[in-house]
Amino acid sequence: MINPYPPFVMREDLYACDGGLILRQGEMITPTILQEIMEKGASRSKDETLLKNKELFEDIMAVMNEENYKVVFEMDEDKDSVMDVVGEIPMTEDICRELEVFKVMDHYTYRHVLVTTALTTRLYKDLCQDPQEVLLAAATALTHDFGKSRIPIEVLQSSRKLNYEEFLYILEHPWIGFLLLTYYTGRSDSLFAQVAFNHHEKIDGSGYPRGAKVDDPFIQVVTICDMFDALISPRTYRMIPFNIRGALDYLCDEAESGRLNVSAVRLLLTHNRRSKPSLESLVCSRDHSGYAPPEEKNHYSCHEDYQEPDLDDKLGTGK
Ligand SMILES: [Fe+2]
Ligand SMILES: [Fe+2]
Repeated sequence: MINPYPPFVMREDLYACDGGLILRQGEMITPTILQEIMEKGASRSKDETLLKNKELFEDIMAVMNEENYKVVFEMDEDKDSVMDVVGEIPMTEDICRELEVFKVMDHYTYRHVLVTTALTTRLYKDLCQDPQEVLLAAATALTHDFGKSRIPIEVLQSSRKLNYEEFLYILEHPWIGFLLLTYYTGRSDSLFAQVAFNHHEKIDGSGYPRGAKVDDPFIQVVTICDMFDALISPRTYRMIPFNIRGALDYLCDEAESGRLNVSAVRLLLTHNRRSKPSLESLVCSRDHSGYAPPEEKNHYSCHEDYQEPDLDDKLGTGK
């Protein structure tokens, strides 16, 4: 298993959405470098337009009508309550541009971030009474995968198993998202930057990119919604995905193993039941009757599958 990156070194130059250079290839991410990124980012325009004034608003409505989500968003009032929140997300020019790149270049990720946003909003409304906090959760879900926009499209949409160098792009996308959002928000401790950084980390430290133990319930809700959509969506390397039951089984197993927040997974389960039971009354069957694709070990979900090449192999000095 790779245990990468303290310290993290840029493998390529990193540019902002407007073409401005943020970091050069070879630069190491240190507190001083982060401070410089924040200072550069602080002077960027923070002018905002509400999401409800953007085309994005209709696109979010459309994903809630997909077949896979017809139980979660069954009632019109469920959809309306989500739209009431997401419509108020403040959109800076930077956020709009990054999402436009997804929409044009990588429709899978565009759709995926919209679903994750709608789902996070729906779940978070049950967890939290503070409308500002729900709004913040929705906004951070919308930007959680910004790092993916810097992955070459042929890697992102590959239908074969990636080689080690290609897989590093996947492994590093939380770092890249973190750096982009540190720059755009002018703060490395902003929830935008932190959610992008930690959305693939797990409670027990088995996630990536750092293998940090992240047990923040706020981030875990985004993580679980992100995983759920990834599991039930067709991908170029796995055209037949988990069915809903299979994905929920998988997430329950992860929670039972101490990797995901149990309450957040149970909350997702309640929303996938037509009867909408309360969290307290929810009874989970553990018969694993859902469908899981064979050979789920793939280049997104299974970084244990990628061993760091032996240094001798890299240098050609091995036997
Ligand atoms: Fe991601
Ligand atoms: Fe994601």
